[in-house]
Amino acid sequence: MSADTEPDSTPSESAAAVSQETIPDREDQALLEVRDLDAGYGDLQILTDVDLDVADGEYVTIVGPNGAGKSTVMKSVFGLTNHMGGTVIFDGEDITGLRPEEIIHEGVGYVPQNDNIFSSLTVRENLEMGAYILDSVPQDALDAVFERFPILEERETQKAGTMSGGQQQMLAMGRALMLDPSLLLLDEPSAGLAPDLVDDMFDRIDAINDDGTAVLMVEQNAKEALRRCDRGYVLANGQNRYMDDGDVLLNDEQVRRDFLGG
Ligand SMILES: Nc1ncnc2c1ncn2[C@@H]1O[C@H](COP(=O)(O)OP(=O)(O)OP(=O)(O)O)[C@@H](O)[C@H]1O
Ligand SMILES: [Mg+2]
Repeated sequence: MSADTEPDSTPSESAAAVSQETIPDREDQALLEVRDLDAGYGDLQILTDVDLDVADGEYVTIVGPNGAGKSTVMKSVFGLTNHMGGTVIFDGEDITGLRPEEIIHEGVGYVPQNDNIFSSLTVRENLEMGAYILDSVPQDALDAVFERFPILEERETQKAGTMSGGQQQMLAMGRALMLDPSLLLLDEPSAGLAPDLVDDMFDRIDAINDDGTAVLMVEQNAKEALRRCDRGYVLANGQNRYMDDGDVLLNDEQVRRDFLGG
């Protein structure tokens, strides 16, 4: 909501900059608009009437218990689930029911929770795969990814599977950035990282968002994610439970008690 509702621990400088400078005008700039979404796998319905918005340049987090359907929301936006009702509008276009390769074309990048790199390919080959829908690899995009993640350039010829967890996560993000998406979907980017690398990963996500890419992120590290994002959703049992500015959710007694471990 406002800077005067600070969370009880101080956010980093970059997070403060994000919340002050890039909160967009939500009314007229919805980039992603999910309405009454029902979706699941085969006949099994997981999501019921899910609503979700991401404005141009906004940073939105989804938190919630294991099995709540967070990954299913991300997969549904990206066309990877069985659509059962409702709509997904992206940049003014109805993308409901489109296939992932069509959705990528519209400007959505997706980094899945698991298996998000090709282990047996080199770092460079992984990045080139990120641009497979184009006729040739865009050199400027590759340069931008290398500039953002210098370790990837250093390890360009290394097999991706031999890199550390943090480096693999950077590669997965780099791959998704190869088409310069206007919305980046990140499913648990800090999962499995050593604790001292978690902050670095969040800083990198802040930087991607600061550069203008809207981010929709799912995180188990819910408090830190809410501290850093503009707005958050709490999802439980495949349904919306709470939606508010990250700081507000972070300071809400009921949300804290029921979803953030007190
Ligand atoms: N491919 C699938 N086929 C059938 N059911 C699935 C499939 N993937 C997920 N589910 C089920 O959908 C529900 C929601 O799963 P989802 O992965 O979306 O939850 P989540 O909130 O991301 O959980 P986590 O925090 O553990 O990642 C769970 O009951 C899960 O078992
Ligand atoms: Mg998940």
